[in-house]
Amino acid sequence: MVKNIAILGSTGSIGKNALKVIDALGSSYRVAALSAHSNIQLLAEQIRRYEPGFVAVTNPDYGKNLRESIDELKTEIMLGPDGLVEIAQLDEVDTVIAAVVGSAGLPAILAAAKSGKQLAIANKEPLVIAGQLLMNLANQNNSTILPVDSEHSAIFQAMQSGSREEVNKIILTASGGPFRKETAENIKNVSLEQTLAHPTWEMGPKITVDSATMMNKAFEVIEAHWLFDMPTEKIDVLIHPESIVHSLVEFVDGSIIAQLGEPDMCLPIQYALTYPRRVAGIARPLRLDKIGSLRFEKPNLEIFRALKLGFEVAQKGGTAAVVFNAANEAAVEEFLAGRINFVNIIELIEDCLNKHDAKTTLSLEDIFEADSWARREVAANIKHTTQNAGTN
Ligand SMILES: NC(=O)c1ccc[n+]([C@@H]2O[C@H](COP(=O)([O-])OP(=O)(O)OC[C@H]3O[C@@H](n4cnc5c(N)ncnc54)[C@H](OP(=O)(O)O)[C@@H]3O)[C@@H](O)[C@H]2O)c1
Repeated sequence: MVKNIAILGSTGSIGKNALKVIDALGSSYRVAALSAHSNIQLLAEQIRRYEPGFVAVTNPDYGKNLRESIDELKTEIMLGPDGLVEIAQLDEVDTVIAAVVGSAGLPAILAAAKSGKQLAIANKEPLVIAGQLLMNLANQNNSTILPVDSEHSAIFQAMQSGSREEVNKIILTASGGPFRKETAENIKNVSLEQTLAHPTWEMGPKITVDSATMMNKAFEVIEAHWLFDMPTEKIDVLIHPESIVHSLVEFVDGSIIAQLGEPDMCLPIQYALTYPRRVAGIARPLRLDKIGSLRFEKPNLEIFRALKLGFEVAQKGGTAAVVFNAANEAAVEEFLAGRINFVNIIELIEDCLNKHDAKTTLSLEDIFEADSWARREVAANIKHTTQNAGTN
């Protein structure tokens, strides 16, 4: 039977890898729908190559001239964020790969879960801000959620060695990013270029910054909490600079089961698509004899304050996680645009969380409200700081 796939965010790092995996898997996997936000040239190439029935361009300004470049093809083009929601729930789609960056992917992910689709989730921010809503919707509508994030894929695979009750704790590994060895003082002066030079993984710019602040690992703690229904006391983080052990599960008998592989997203993407089967495919074989040694160390929570906050936010839940994510998205955007320094990212997030009056229960309205409040707060804070700097 052919599996029809929609890729939300096909022009990004995960989206492009997903297409490579589908190429390698052969004719049992078909691209039914794609989406892009701004990279129309690449989307047009993908349409010509895969001939999907549907595409969505979430930023309508970029999509206006797409028809001209694919004129002879029958692909239906949908413009605007609603298009993303449409393709996530199409009858023609069996599996949705969620690979959009940031919380913009949330409405489409919820729509896919509501329509009972199989959901392969790379896009972690929606799980962070609306994990409970999403897991409830998926359970009610028989939607299977398969993690694509390499750490969660590793945990998902290791979990199959025992029952849920036999799990003592899960251990997420982290490369530590480019600033693993820096002091709190040195980190104040790091540049954008240094931040984007990740030692082991090639990823999109936002998640690369999140890895350097270790916000990415904080999100993964919250993600694991929801995906595996695991209390935060049973989640640990270990720095593992080689990024070969993708995560581990400790069982009650003391056994630790890990999943190992080259740092390459193609393997977790493929496993999410072929689950519960394993097939020979795209992954490079891992040569442990060439690697020699694997190191593990405790993360420094005084330097990587985002990770410490991540555990606190995971415990609080509700709108605290929404504010945590939105303040980070807004601050990272400012950092990528060169308007703030690296340390300002965590300062802006901490400030936002301190001012926020968190609600523990969560509706979609609460999410949108807390999200825009945090973004306004970050913008106002930056404006205030810039004005003060101008008058000093
Ligand atoms: N990269 C990795 O190795 C990796 C690993 C684990 C998890 N993840 C997670 O996977 C997600 C994608 O990461 P990535 O590295 O692939 O990001 P990326 O390279 O920046 O790609 C993001 C994708 O989302 C689209 N997009 C951007 N803004 C959008 C918006 N407002 N609405 C809808 N679509 C939008 C982009 O379209 P255009 O390019 O056309 O503008 C692109 O297709 C993130 O949540 C990340 O945390 C990534």
